Formats: sequence, structure tokens, C-alpha cells
Amino acid sequence: MTDASSTPAIPVTIYRSDYRAPEWQVPDIALDFALGIDATKVGAALSVVRQADAPVPLTLRGDGLTPAAVRVDGEVWNDWRMDGSDLIVDLGERSAATVEVDTVIDPASNTQLSGLYASGGLLCTQCEAEGFRRITFHPDRPDVLSRYKVRMQGDKAAFPILLSNGNCIEQGEEGSDHWALWEDPWPKPSYLFALVAGDLVVNKDSFTTTSGREVELGIWVRGGDVERTGHAMQALKDSMKWDEEVYGREYDLDLFNIVAVSDFNMGAMENKGLNVFNTRYILADPDTATDVDYDGVEGVVAHEYFHNWSGNRVTCRDWFQLSLKEGFTVFRDQSFSADMGSPPVKRIEDVRLLRAAQFPEDAGPLAHPIRPDSFQEISNFYTATIYNKGAEIIRMMATMVGPERFRKGTDLYFDRHDGEAATCEDFVRAIEEGAGIDLAQFRRWYEQAGTPRLKLSLVEDEGAWSLDVVQTVPPTPGQPEKQPMMMPLRLAAFAMDGSGDALADTLVTITGATQRIALGKFVGRPALSVNRGFSAPIIVDFERGPGELAWLAAHDDDPFARYEALQQLMLDTLVAAVSGKTGDNQAVIDAVGQTLAGAGNDPAFVAEAVLLPSEAFAGDQMVTVDPDAIRRERLALQAAIGAALETKWRAILAGSAPPATDLSRKAKGGRRLRGVALAYLAATGADDAPALAFRIFSDADGMTERQAALATLAHGDSDERAHALDIFYQRYRDNPLVLDKWFQVQAWSLRADTVDAVKALAQHPDFTLANPNRVRSLYGALTGNQAAFHQADGAGYRLIAELVIALDPKNPQTSAKMIPSLGRWKRFDDARQALMKAELERILAQPGLSRDVTEQASKSLVG
Ligand code: PHE
Ligand code: ZN
Repeated sequence: MTDASSTPAIPVTIYRSDYRAPEWQVPDIALDFALGIDATKVGAALSVVRQADAPVPLTLRGDGLTPAAVRVDGEVWNDWRMDGSDLIVDLGERSAATVEVDTVIDPASNTQLSGLYASGGLLCTQCEAEGFRRITFHPDRPDVLSRYKVRMQGDKAAFPILLSNGNCIEQGEEGSDHWALWEDPWPKPSYLFALVAGDLVVNKDSFTTTSGREVELGIWVRGGDVERTGHAMQALKDSMKWDEEVYGREYDLDLFNIVAVSDFNMGAMENKGLNVFNTRYILADPDTATDVDYDGVEGVVAHEYFHNWSGNRVTCRDWFQLSLKEGFTVFRDQSFSADMGSPPVKRIEDVRLLRAAQFPEDAGPLAHPIRPDSFQEISNFYTATIYNKGAEIIRMMATMVGPERFRKGTDLYFDRHDGEAATCEDFVRAIEEGAGIDLAQFRRWYEQAGTPRLKLSLVEDEGAWSLDVVQTVPPTPGQPEKQPMMMPLRLAAFAMDGSGDALADTLVTITGATQRIALGKFVGRPALSVNRGFSAPIIVDFERGPGELAWLAAHDDDPFARYEALQQLMLDTLVAAVSGKTGDNQAVIDAVGQTLAGAGNDPAFVAEAVLLPSEAFAGDQMVTVDPDAIRRERLALQAAIGAALETKWRAILAGSAPPATDLSRKAKGGRRLRGVALAYLAATGADDAPALAFRIFSDADGMTERQAALATLAHGDSDERAHALDIFYQRYRDNPLVLDKWFQVQAWSLRADTVDAVKALAQHPDFTLANPNRVRSLYGALTGNQAAFHQADGAGYRLIAELVIALDPKNPQTSAKMIPSLGRWKRFDDARQALMKAELERILAQPGLSRDVTEQASKSLVG
């Protein structure tokens, strides 16, 4: 199985409009695995039924496979040939047959982590999107659904645990071997197949569904890790209950297993009845996981569980429909997390992520609609657009119709398409009919890429105020002209003099390129609270002075809108300073001070609100990003706020942190606010700041405080910094997930020598390209560190290009994920543009480049 042979030199573009129904269906599959770490024999028996009227050969996709034997209806069969990596079997006039193919694969050498691979002595699979064809020949498209029977056999000592989808219906022993037979009653596409074999221990629990089905729950991990699975188990049970209550969806098997593996390209995978997770989203205890990690576990466990309906029971017809399952499921996990914690804080986090990851994508060379029209490599389309913008599109529908009608729509969708491979259009039609709304224009969200902009202005006519809206959708690659979108816009208006006039929370639907909205009578210009709750995933251009923003930050009755007002005020102040205007920081300082006064009630919200916008988000507001000026001015503003409110930060830090075992909303918020306070205090350069940070680091009873203090120290140059990094390393060197944090805080550092530090860390004995988490913790963190990555001499770009080149032969999926950072060259000055493009060209000049990297780099270079 050589990777070079599995990727053609000239990438082929696949178009959504070319979709054709499958010529053959495969109602039943029997798989037989003789397990071995470096040689696993796979026997596949596919019962195939022709769908086409006329005879047509059976095409089975393969990737790096050679058929050892082919049989048809039990007879040795010679009427087959290879077409590239695919197996074409001529079945003559037959309209049905049983086709058996034997292959041998080598999991140990599978460094792509797609198909069947070895992770620390464990054998596991990852089949989405097109990994099943790396295990056996198969149509491997999501509209071919089959009932699976899986037999696996292997050495008892090496593989004491044997798991697959569905239920274990039989097991036995043969000498030093044992075997198990698993059967999944639910027809599923090949991307949901899973198998895990190895030495695992389990945390067992159970859940009884509303209709009384007793479900056995198992979370399987390496020995020693089982104590860290409690939070994941609770999250699983909470998710199961929530999906029954909110969507009326029950679990449909007697068994639900989760396995955690260390080497995984993504967060987790929703294989039917056998989710496979990155350990990062399962393992948590207060000593090793931060509050953010805890929330990540809860959210991802929920996400994968919710896929059982939105993804598995109703799956996707083809990969262009990926957002059908991902956008909807992200919306579902976001709603769940909001219900489990604080809805406004959750919304702030989700919007921050959207702006950090999706808006830049939508504004760059890789922009694509949530339902793309074409791709070369589907792995490149597991994007923030498909996932997070996709979730926003679902959210807008839910906002426009309200919860009851939305539920009618989703009920109709699940009932109508249960057991089917559906399309985004099927979803929209179900909401249209079930909820009773015309979504004709709304469908443009599926077709058009780019973040819409609403330019707003207030107009007055004899005391009656209205809002003028001008909508534009920017051109994106392949889409020069755009039509206006339909979107829900939540707004309110207040009289700032407190005269009592107000327009209470209102939902208007924007449909036009221009639109006028009446607000009512106000004595003076009202303060407008607009796109409340981020009701639409758009950019709002609206000139508002610091006075108005500060007023809204203090008085808006919607917490999300208060957050937005303060953030806008900070952003305006920062951008003014970066463009050389003498900054007046007083309005920001006052507003932060006022917001801090509310910390007692809701520390989590306050911590989010007083956090300065990121360097990258500040850059997004500029015509040409100036990373150095942004770094300088942001640090200056942070220092100014730090100094002006120093007593408040010190007061927050004076108390002791809530015990790390307290995971209540208030305790988490308290810790978050302490982290923010420490960062502000350190930014002042106060002499005692390193010692204080070190004390917090040493006294911390949990990872949230410990990591926050370490990250703050990592920005500086103190002896305490070196000491803390050393202590941390020594203490956690044997815990890979915590060691990732050690790499990450150093790559996040605001120091001037961070690129050199990353270069050196890449040579550290604990660094490895074999583990995607480790790669992301070092290089992914660097690309998120704007001023470091964009260091003027191009050293950051070079480091990333070298990584892409070195990693591509091993793991093209993870390698390709690093390219978008280089693709944003248009946003920078000429010198940086030239350096970034040179690195993209250098990557493209490599011989034998994967399809993944080729697509991303060539599209990025075109711009
Ligand atoms: N479908 C997985 C999810 O949403 C993501 C994934 C995609 C995992 C491809 C592995 C490979 O959660
Ligand atoms: Zn998903």
C-alpha cells in the first residue's frame, strides 16, 4: 500500500451536477477479518443487485488494494480488471450476484489514519469520507446502504477486545485466537463502518430510553485512562435524554460504544453504534483538563451521538450534501451545550469561532458554498463553512419559524427520509412544508459563498426613525455576481436619554438588496441593537460613536448585544490606533470597568465580554493587515486597560479560585475571569506579575488555572517562565494530551522569538509528525499566532511549507489543513504576499504531492 499509487498526479474535479444514482446496490455485506498489525486479511462478500435496466459491469472502488481472489456466486471468477485503483467486475447479464473479494492490508504502515490503521497497538478504522475503499473494494459512496455482518478473528493476547457496529451475536475461541461476530441491523453506508481490536478497558453504564429500551453504554480506553471517562459518560447520557426531549429522537440499538484513540485526524467519528474518538474529546479530569477541554468533551460526545439521527438514520446522498448532516448536527450540539450551560456565553463562543475560522475562509481563495458545486478531494471540505456556517443556516430557519414550527419541520424530515440518503434540498423542503414557510429565496444560502454585508444607516422624518439596509454579497471564486439573501434580523432600539421610548426586540426578515425598516418615534437618534443573538451570519457595517456603543454595552437588555457593543468599541479603538490615529482609550476603559462590576452575577459572561478581540479579527477589519502594528497596539491597549483597572484585576486575583472539581457554571466562569485578569495584569508589566503568575501556577489545584498561568508566563521573559515550563514538562511528559498543551503555549507566545522557538520544538524528542494532535499543538498554534506566523522575514511561512512537504507523504489530510493559512496572502502587503506565494509554489513543485495538498495549494495560489 504505497501512498503515491493511491493519488493521481492530475487531480480530477468532481461536480455535483454529475450525480447519477448507483448502478448497483449492495443490500448485504459480510466481512471477515483475520487481524494482524502488519497484515490483516479481509474477505468481503457483497450481495449486489443491479439497479440499471441494461447489463453494466460492477465498479468497486479501491485505494492501494490488490485483489488476491475474486469469486462470483461461489465460483472463481476471472472476468475482472483493474481500472486504475478500481476493480471492475463483469457480471454479464446478471441482475444480482454475490461477489467475493479477498485482500490483504497492512495497518501498521497506514500513516494516513484513513482505512484500517494501528494506533499504539490498537487496530481501528476511519472510513469517512472515502476510507472504506482502503479496507476492501466497494462502491464506497454514501447512497449505497447495506446490512453488515462482521466476523473478526485474532490473537487473544494482542486483541482481547473485538468491537464493531451493532450487536455482538456470537463469539468463540480457536487455540490462541478468538473471534467475534457482529451484526448491525440498520442498513448503513460504508463510511459508517467501524472495527476496533485491541487491549482496552471499559467504563460501562446504561440508559433507558423513553420507550423503555435498555441501552448498554461503553466507553473504551487504554488501561489507566478509565478514571478520566466520567465526564464523557455523563455527556452521553445527557445527550441521549436531550435528543428525546428536544427532537423526539430515541436511540435504536441495545448497545452504544465509544472508543478513544490517540492518533486521529479529526475530533471524532459517528460510526453506527461504535463512535471512535480522538482521546482529546473523551479523557478529562480536573488535574489534566481545562474547563474548555471539559466543554469540548461534552460538545463532541453530543455531536457524535446526535449524528445517530442526523447523519446515520438519515444520511447524505453524496458528499456535496455533507452540510446536511454536519451543519444540522453542529446546530444540534450547539443548542444542547447552550441548554447545559449558559446560552449567551455559548452563543458568544460560537460566534467567535465563526468569525475566527469561517469568515476568513469565506473571504479567501478557498471560499465555497455550504453545498459545494465541485471538489477534487472531499477531505478538504470538512471546513468551518460546511460545519459552522452550515449550522448558522439551520439556525436561521429555526429563528424564522420559532421552536414549535421548527420541530414540526424536523419531525417531517426524519419521518420522511428515515433510512434514506437525502439531500440538502430534502431538508429545506421538509422545513418548508412542516414548518410552513416559503424558503425559495432562502435556498441561496446553499448556493452562494461569501459573507453577506449589511450597510445600515438611520434616517429621520419628523421624529419618526427608520433603518435603511443595503445588502451586498461579495464575489467569491467562480461566483462574481450575487443575489441578495433572505435572513432574519433581530433588532431593538432604545432612547439613550432614558425617556422610555423603545422598540422592543423585533424580528424582521431581510430579503432585498435595499430595505427600509420603520423603528418608530424617538426624540433623538435611538441606540440601535442589531443582529441580536447574531441572528444572521453576516457582517454589519454601521457607524456608531463610542458613546452609543458604551451605552449599549451597559444597558442593552440582550447579553449577546452587550458583548457585541463592547467588542465593537474595543475593535474601533484598536483599529484607529493601528491606523495611526491617536487613541482615546478612556471609553473602552470605562466600559470594561462598568462591565466588571457585574462579574459577581455572571463571571463567565463578563470574562468573554472584557476580552480584547483577537489580532486576527482586528486584521480582518483592515484593508491590508499589518500584523506588527496590530500586535503593538493590542498589547498597548491591553496594558492601558490593565493599568487603569489594576486594582480590579488584583481584587479578582486576590480571592482563591473555585476548587477545580467544581464544574458549575459559576465556578468555570470564575476561573475564566481570573485567567483574563491575570493576562491584563501581566500586560501592565507590573514587577510582581511573573511571581504572582508563578504562584497561581504552583498553587493551582487543576489544569484551568495552571494552563492560564503558564500561558501568561509564556508571553514573557522571566525566570519564572523557564521554571514553570520545566515543571510542567517534567510533571506531564508521559501524558500526551497535556504535553500537547506544553507545545501549544509556547507556539502561542507573544514573544518576538516564537518562530525560532517553534523550529526548535519541532526537533524536541517528544515532537512527532505521526500524531495529528501533536502537529496541531505546535504548528496549528503557530498559524493562529498572527504576528509570529506573519513574521516579516517569512520564516513562519517557510516553517509551515516545510511541514506540509514533510507531512504530506505520511498524512495528506492533516498536511492539507495547514495550507489555508498560506492562502490568505491577498490580505497582506506586497512583501508578505510574495513570500507566501513563493511557499505555495514551493509546495506545488514537490513531486508526488497528494490530491489533498495539490487542491488546496493550487486553489490558494490562484487567489
Ligand atoms: N463526521 C465526523 C464528525 O462530524 C468528522 C470526521 C470526518 C471524522 C472525517 C473523521 C473523518 O464529527
Ligand atoms: Zn459531525
